[in-house]
Amino acid sequence: MKVGIDKISFFVPPYYVDMAELATARAVDPGKYLIGIGQSQMAIGPSSQDIVTYAANAASNILTKEDKEAIDLVIVGTESSFDESKASAVILHRLLGIQEFARAFEIKEACYGATAGIEAAKNHIRQHPKSKALVIAADIARYGLNNGGEPTQGAGAVAMIISSEPKILALSEDTVNLTQDIYDFWRPTGHAYPLVDGPLSNETYINSFKKVYTRYEEIYQESFDTFAALAFHIPYTKMGRKALQAVLPKATPQDQERLLARYEESITYSRQVGNLYTGSLYLGLISLLENSTSLQAGDKLGLFSYGSGAVSQFFTGTLQPGYEKQLLPDHHKALLTNRTKLSVFEYEEMFKEAVDYDATTTFNDPLPFSITTIKDNIRFYRNEDTK
Ligand code: COA
Repeated sequence: MKVGIDKISFFVPPYYVDMAELATARAVDPGKYLIGIGQSQMAIGPSSQDIVTYAANAASNILTKEDKEAIDLVIVGTESSFDESKASAVILHRLLGIQEFARAFEIKEACYGATAGIEAAKNHIRQHPKSKALVIAADIARYGLNNGGEPTQGAGAVAMIISSEPKILALSEDTVNLTQDIYDFWRPTGHAYPLVDGPLSNETYINSFKKVYTRYEEIYQESFDTFAALAFHIPYTKMGRKALQAVLPKATPQDQERLLARYEESITYSRQVGNLYTGSLYLGLISLLENSTSLQAGDKLGLFSYGSGAVSQFFTGTLQPGYEKQLLPDHHKALLTNRTKLSVFEYEEMFKEAVDYDATTTFNDPLPFSITTIKDNIRFYRNEDTK
C-alpha cells in the first residue's frame, strides 16, 4: 500500500524585512546576509498572528469538505507552542472544521517535529487506509534583535495531507534515524528565545547529514544516481548547500551538477522567508516541486530532516503521476509577492510588540484566520473558513 503526501501548501505572514537593509542597520556588510547566510528577505508577523493562524491559513488552502470528513488525525509539529498543556492541534481541529471523531496532538523536537508527525501519520494510515491525516509544521523562529541569530529568523507554516492515495509523493519505508544528545540549540522553559551555539549547530547539522546519508547508502545499496534531488532542512539557505557539498566529492560530476541545481530550486522560497523551523524542510520541498522544470513522475527524492538537540532523519519518496497538478505555485508566488515590506524600524517595532495575555486585548487583522481577542489567557480566532 502506498502512503504519502497527497496535498501540500504553505503560509507566511504578510510582512517582511529586506536583509540588505537589516545588514546595513546592524553595521554588517550586506554580503554576509545575502551570500554568507543566503537570505534576501525575512518574514515577520504581528501579535494578532501566531502559529495557529499560520497553520489554519496554510491548511485552508488544501482542505476540501471531503478531506475534513476523512481526516481523523491532526498533528502539529512545533517548537513555538504557547501553551504547556493544550495542543494547538486541538484549536486547529475546531477552526478548520475537521469531523469530531479525530485525534489531535502536538509534537516537539526542535525542527524535527513535523517529520515525526509524518511518521506517526504514515503508521496511522497504514492501519486505517480510508482515513486521512493532517500534519502541520508551524513556527515562529526568533532569536531576538541585534544578535548573531537575528538574520536566521522567520515565521510560517506548512500543511500536508497524508493519505493512502498520495498524489504528490509516495513515502518509502527506507529511513535512517540518528539521535545525539548535543546542546547546539535549546530553549529552556520560560525562555522567550533559544540558547544557541551557532558554530556547533552548523557542525552538528553537517555531521548528522553525512552520517545518515552514508548509512542510507550502506543499508539500501543506493547512491547519488538514485536521487533526482535532495531536499534539506533549511534554517538559512547556505546551510543545506554546505551539508550537500560535504558529501558531493564522492559523486560523479553529473550527479554533483544535478543535485546542486535542484538544491538551488529548493531554496527559492526560503530565501524570501527565512527559517520556519519545523516547516523549513517542507517549504524547501514545495519550492523544489514548484520551481523545478527537470523533475518528473517516478523520480526519487531524498529528504533530510534535522532538529537541534539533535535528531536527524534521512528518508525518501517517489513523485507520483500528475503531481504537478496538485501544487499551488501561483497561489504561493502571489502570497510572497503581495507581502508588505517593513523598514528596519517598523520590523523592530513589530518584533517588540508586547501582549498582556492576562488582560483583554482586541485586534482587527483582516487575515482569514487571525486573533480577534485575547481574554483570560484564551486566544479567540477569526474563522472565515466556510468550505
Ligand atoms: N560576504 C559574503 N560572505 C560573508 C561575508 C561577506 N561580506 N561576511 C561573512 N560571510 C560569510 C562567512 O564567511 C560565513 O560563511 P561560511 O559559513 O561559508 O564560512 C557566513 O557568512 C556566516 O558568517 P559567520 O561569521 O559564521 O556568521 P555568524 O557568526 O554571525 O553565525 C550563524 C552564523 C548561522 C551560526 C548564526 O546566524 C546562528 O547562530 N543562527 C542560528 C542557528 C542556526 O541557524 N543554525 C543552523 C543549524 S540548525
